[in-house]
Amino acid sequence: MRSLKMPKLGVNIDHVATLRQVRHGIEPEPVFAALISEASGADSIVAHLREDRRHIQERDLYLLKETVKTRLNLEMSVAKDIVDIACEVRPDQATLVPEKRQEVTTEGGLDVPPNFKKIKQAISRLEKQAIAVSLFIDPDKIQIDASAKLGVGMIELHTGRYAEAKNKKQQDKYFRQLETAVDYARAKGLVVNAGHGLDYYNAARVAKVKGIEELNIGYAIVCRAALVGFACAVKQMKALIK
Ligand code: PXP
Repeated sequence: MRSLKMPKLGVNIDHVATLRQVRHGIEPEPVFAALISEASGADSIVAHLREDRRHIQERDLYLLKETVKTRLNLEMSVAKDIVDIACEVRPDQATLVPEKRQEVTTEGGLDVPPNFKKIKQAISRLEKQAIAVSLFIDPDKIQIDASAKLGVGMIELHTGRYAEAKNKKQQDKYFRQLETAVDYARAKGLVVNAGHGLDYYNAARVAKVKGIEELNIGYAIVCRAALVGFACAVKQMKALIK
């Protein structure tokens, strides 16, 4: 069944922490951004504890867990020490992502089939702590099938190829791939979220795809917030995906 409602908005606050870590200072405070986002219409707060700790730190997670009122979605790799931390912090949701040290941002989705066992172990540990698990995957039937086989209830489709398309023809092609993947995953009973690379120019089209539950957007909102403030940036995005 297709969802007819507008997607929710998850605001990723990683790059507030990036700005702080540039100087290893105390500002800007990611928790502050999270609370303003919630007050401005965010439906969830997303943070990625990367293995190299380039932005979000463990202390941020503990503070976010204490303060976020909507839903805390922790993006994370399946590395054992990261799963240990997640099991201790117990966010509402964990989104499993692939992670490479050298990448500027998460470059692709999880390759589920060859990593099936490792991902399954992480899911099992997280679910024991009552954490809802989502898998960040490319809009691809093989990945969707493998995710469904793992028994997760939720996936997030990587919108990077659509967002980074060099021309209209390419963008249309990747948009159709996304639509097909949403339908395919929904037919398998999965809750479907989407994100990566979405901004004030390309998010509205994705928001119109029926069946997407939530869009997770970070970089574009933090960039806009640097100029117009966080409340305004979140409200503008919320209005745009309506
Ligand atoms: N979803 C996932 C799983 C991600 O890894 C990221 C990047 O941290 C995002 C969404 C948000 O991407 P962006 O910062 O490009 O909006």
